[in-house]
Amino acid sequence: MDKVALITGATRGIGKQIALTLSKEGFNIALNYRKENEELIELKKDIEANQVKCFQVAGDVSNFEECEKLVEQVIEKFGQIDVLVNNAGITKDMLLMRMSKEDFEQVIDVNLIGTFNMTKNVIRHMLKARTGRIINISSVVGISGNAGQTNYAASKAGIIGFTKSLAKEVASRNILVNAVAPGFIETSMTDVLTDEVKEDIAKNIPLKRIGVAQDVANVVKFLASEDSSYITGQVIHVDGGMLM
Ligand SMILES: NC(=O)c1ccc[n+]([C@@H]2O[C@H](COP(=O)([O-])OP(=O)(O)OC[C@H]3O[C@@H](n4cnc5c(N)ncnc54)[C@H](OP(=O)(O)O)[C@@H]3O)[C@@H](O)[C@H]2O)c1
Repeated sequence: MDKVALITGATRGIGKQIALTLSKEGFNIALNYRKENEELIELKKDIEANQVKCFQVAGDVSNFEECEKLVEQVIEKFGQIDVLVNNAGITKDMLLMRMSKEDFEQVIDVNLIGTFNMTKNVIRHMLKARTGRIINISSVVGISGNAGQTNYAASKAGIIGFTKSLAKEVASRNILVNAVAPGFIETSMTDVLTDEVKEDIAKNIPLKRIGVAQDVANVVKFLASEDSSYITGQVIHVDGGMLM
């Protein structure tokens, strides 16, 4: 297979696991990162061990020009982008009363505008190729809301509206657009919580465990595969039954 998957924010957590999982499926991987770090060298080696190519490309998704440049670099390297996974995301939690305008804007800029910036630059290549998959990482809090996360929940709800609208726009060109809504997944994003709090959260999840990055990567793998060729505009929950 000569297909190419571009994954944003793939240096750690869910993005890293998606990159590794898609590489096992035979995708060449374009791996977006923001800051250089030593782990990137190891990750490239792990991906290439699956007999695929790995191209690491720097860029801040909240910056449109950087996205434009990074997409061009991937096209120059591989000639195509078959799957885009908009995974890069941040949180800046605070009750609204105490949340600064900057913290609200920053979360929207990375999570929602970042999804626009990347998709806008990739979609013209997919339109030309008349095929493609866009997989946006939302969150269950984009559906349920969550105290202390007005900025994050708004960005993730925005991603759902974006996903459904774009799915309608590009379905006739055989481009499928879906979202994945993880619940509580063990990564550096959720590491700030104490073990006690995590245990409490797990107790309230019907499947009685916190998710791992592989749980999300498995669904992304499905949405990137031929097995999901009749699915578009959907939001797939990966949350152990947390939100029904
Ligand atoms: N963990 C959960 O429970 C959970 C639940 C629901 C949804 N999600 C969503 O899943 C996605 C991945 O989350 P995670 O838990 O894996 O988080 P994570 O461990 O904090 O990783 C986030 C990744 O995004 C990158 N990133 C942040 N801002 C960026 C920017 N402006 N441009 C490019 N890359 C940027 C980070 O790169 P740096 O190393 O440069 O910071 C990092 O690679 C996010 O969209 C998150 O909202 C997570």
